[in-house]
Amino acid sequence: MEQTIWWFLGLFGILIFLVAAVAIYDLFQRKHAILRNFPVVGHLRFALESVGPELRQYIVTDNDSERPFSRDDRRWVYEAANAHEGLFGFGTDNDVESTPNYIFIKQSTFPVNASPAVDTDKWLAPMAKTIGAARNRRLAFRPESIVNISSMSFGSLGARAVESLNLGASIAGCLQGTGEGGISRSHRSGGDLILQIGTGYFGARDAHGRFNLDRLIETIASAPIRGIEIKLSQGAKPGLGGVLPAAKVTEEIAQLRGIPVGETCHSPARHSAFSDVDSMLDFIEMIAQETGLPVGIKSAVGEAAFWSELAQIMSTKQRGVDWITVDGGEGGTGAAPLPFADNVALPFFDAFPRVYRSFAEQGLADDVVFLGAGRLGLPTRAIAGFSLGLDGVNVGREAMLSIGCIQAQRCHTGQCPTGVATSSAWLQRGLDPTLKSVRCANYIIGLRRELLRLSRACGVDHPSLISPNMVEFRRGDGGLMTLADIHSYEDGWGVRS
Ligand SMILES: Cc1cc2nc3c(=O)[nH]c(=O)nc-3n(C[C@H](O)[C@H](O)[C@H](O)COP(=O)(O)O)c2cc1C
Ligand code: SF4
Repeated sequence: MEQTIWWFLGLFGILIFLVAAVAIYDLFQRKHAILRNFPVVGHLRFALESVGPELRQYIVTDNDSERPFSRDDRRWVYEAANAHEGLFGFGTDNDVESTPNYIFIKQSTFPVNASPAVDTDKWLAPMAKTIGAARNRRLAFRPESIVNISSMSFGSLGARAVESLNLGASIAGCLQGTGEGGISRSHRSGGDLILQIGTGYFGARDAHGRFNLDRLIETIASAPIRGIEIKLSQGAKPGLGGVLPAAKVTEEIAQLRGIPVGETCHSPARHSAFSDVDSMLDFIEMIAQETGLPVGIKSAVGEAAFWSELAQIMSTKQRGVDWITVDGGEGGTGAAPLPFADNVALPFFDAFPRVYRSFAEQGLADDVVFLGAGRLGLPTRAIAGFSLGLDGVNVGREAMLSIGCIQAQRCHTGQCPTGVATSSAWLQRGLDPTLKSVRCANYIIGLRRELLRLSRACGVDHPSLISPNMVEFRRGDGGLMTLADIHSYEDGWGVRS
């Protein structure tokens, strides 16, 4: 009996030693934030993930049923972030014959051969248009990448996540949107920026929260800013303004935004610097004149009148926006009320064609750079977007996935387990910008690679040459229709002329 107890104690001691060794290893390794933040128990996630396909044969969900990003979507992003080719065996497990809105890309019988000039390790793919050229902006430029990082504010994302994305942007040769929370130290890690100005005018406001040009010019002088994006609305919370929950308002964020520490920060629902299309265009021209930078707008799509009025005024060529970012209603956010996230604003593939049509009808489609966001960081959806007239895609949550987000959907609580969407120093310590930036860059390069390969399969060299006749959607009644027919596009629309 005594011997058995000693055996038991011995085994228990070995077990404790092993657990302690794993815990110490987890705490000091830098590859996985989840293990660093949750030593030992974090392994459960990896164990479950590795036996997931077998488990799902018998229980729970399939590879496509989770939202906003299905297991297959996330697997593709993680593979790209690991710089893997993204090869999968045995064929598709999707229900291609009856899933509504399933996307089919129609290959050419005579595809384009691989191009060694482009297929470097970075799969370079510049945009087909020069931003600001149509309106002769002094600092017009042609973006080097058709994939760029969407605006996500400092505060909703933690400092290390912002730094990882900024470094990643510089490695991949793309742009990062600052988001509406102003420019932090983490934004100045080497990547070029698009400065976003929301209704709170953070980084460009006076003591009363009103727009201030001198402050804007000071901010521009302090960082590598290539353009300015006026945010009218965002797909996940249109018509509402921004909200940064109190738990995330640290001293650094408070200082950056000019607000009190630990109090929820609301931005107004609408701008105070302009009140209609006409005054918005005056505001945009004033900023472009004073800074020389191209100026764009970002908006979700609701009422149609705004877009037709904007295109109509721009047709006189006196004033105009240099780019338009259309955010789909399915877009992400740090925090939003559920009905706004679920039901307000049109989803991207219904929204974008309405905007594009307004400009194409006025003959302005070549004068404006069209960007899109809303789960467009996945190859097939992005190709469908390009076929409708996009010049580039902005990736938000997919870029978060690439640096470690596991879609736990706790971004609004300040308790993000992977340190991505939190201001907590403890939770962020697991996220190493040196390693995560490479993953972010790999993902962006991997997406460019897939977009170029899919374009060539369609017989063209660049996604901007894919026409809406080359892509079909399965309709609710089971039939297939080209995107050109679904959206009544005229000949030549959607393709860079
Ligand atoms: C955490 C988080 C913060 C965001 N902050 C902003 C913001 O400050 N300004 C903005 O225009 N959009 C913001 N967005 C929206 C994204 O830029 C993007 O438009 C949207 O998520 C759709 O793209 P996605 O599907 O690739 O994520 C945010 C999204 C997330 C997930
Ligand atoms: S892991 Fe969860 S809480 Fe963190 S960023 Fe991703 S979805 Fe948000």
